[in-house]
Amino acid sequence: MAINSESGQNVLRIGMAGLGTVAQGLLTLLNQNAERITRQAGMPIEVVRIASRSRKPEIDIGDAVFDSDLESLLDDDVDVVVELIGGVDSARELISSALRQGKPIVTANKAVLASHGNDWFNGSAVLGIEASVAGGIPIMSTLKNGLSGNSVDWLVGIINGTCNYILTAMDEQGSSFTDALAKAQELGYAEADPGFDVDGVDAAQKLSLLAALAFDIPITLDDTYIEGISGVTVEDLRYARELGFRIRHVGVARRNGEKFETRVHPALISATDLIGDVSGVANAVIVGANAVGLILLVGPGAGGLPTASAVLGDLIEIARGTYSRMRIGQNEGARLPIVATESRYYLNIPAADRPGVFGEIGDILRQSGISMEGVIQKQAAVRQTDGEPWVPIVMVTGRAVEASMDDALDRLSSLESVRGRVRRIRVADFDY
Ligand code: HSE
Repeated sequence: MAINSESGQNVLRIGMAGLGTVAQGLLTLLNQNAERITRQAGMPIEVVRIASRSRKPEIDIGDAVFDSDLESLLDDDVDVVVELIGGVDSARELISSALRQGKPIVTANKAVLASHGNDWFNGSAVLGIEASVAGGIPIMSTLKNGLSGNSVDWLVGIINGTCNYILTAMDEQGSSFTDALAKAQELGYAEADPGFDVDGVDAAQKLSLLAALAFDIPITLDDTYIEGISGVTVEDLRYARELGFRIRHVGVARRNGEKFETRVHPALISATDLIGDVSGVANAVIVGANAVGLILLVGPGAGGLPTASAVLGDLIEIARGTYSRMRIGQNEGARLPIVATESRYYLNIPAADRPGVFGEIGDILRQSGISMEGVIQKQAAVRQTDGEPWVPIVMVTGRAVEASMDDALDRLSSLESVRGRVRRIRVADFDY
């Protein structure tokens, strides 16, 4: 910390990597909430250095010194580094160097934490990670501090703002996937490569961090089931609504005996569920733990100001000297494969529109021990392909082990009367 020559006060001097959405949000907040931040931190927080690929002259960086070299942030005139560049390689180098020097560093980068966090957690240097998961929701400090005396049994959540924004726009405005994604990018929600969002990787990285803090296990993506939202159609969203559900992209982490179930995928959630109407860029995390029972946190999961809010929370704790270190255990944290998990399923089966087809489908499901709970087949939905009429048969099944469902789907797909890919979406029946 430096003494400011004009005020005679201590100042926390920040070296910030990046000038993107979150970095701009942080500059705005430091300016807008300066008085409150100074009071809470016990000193002003000032960005004294910025390092980024390009200077972006339209952004007011005040008195900060700009450099294109990230190493400039490790200079002695920086008290805390803030890493907001995203990506893995350069971020890893910067974080490792800062930690080696004992310089506190705050990051919003779940990708680098998911791949290298095990080397850094449990160390003595300060690594602030609040902004890496669920944007403005203080879920990491909740797990690390507030719930640290609980044994956590499970957590479920909506942890990718872009996916939630896209699914909501498709559902509520009938937007196309492409238009909704373009809008999410314009609003600064999506990753530089939005494939990480829509393919579920970003959510899986976040889930691996949540699971590590919740269950005291190492961070790993191994055996985490990862499915994105590109297979979900506006038609699925409509049918789901008719059946009393919404479709959301969810992350689930649960103790299952000696193993842990970790998965991210689209899911039907009952419209009356605690997180059934979490819409737009919002995220939500529900934690089930043995002392507290259940807690729910909801808030904006992406975007400049909400994510900067989380960065700032870490910075203020560092200024106060109260930042608590991460503590995760070293036990194996072996995962239960998705084929061994059990769910109900939404199925959308493109079936020939002729007598007897329904019976063929029913026979296959029955042979796999899978019951049908709600079925919709609409005459108005009949379509023609190559002169052959077909119609979606939509249903929600009873609970089944995933391996049995996979087997039933293989057999359904090989029926002559099934005219295309059967769409399958798990139903999230959270036992709160
Ligand atoms: N792309 C991420 C999301 C940003 O949409 O959730 C916040 O981590």
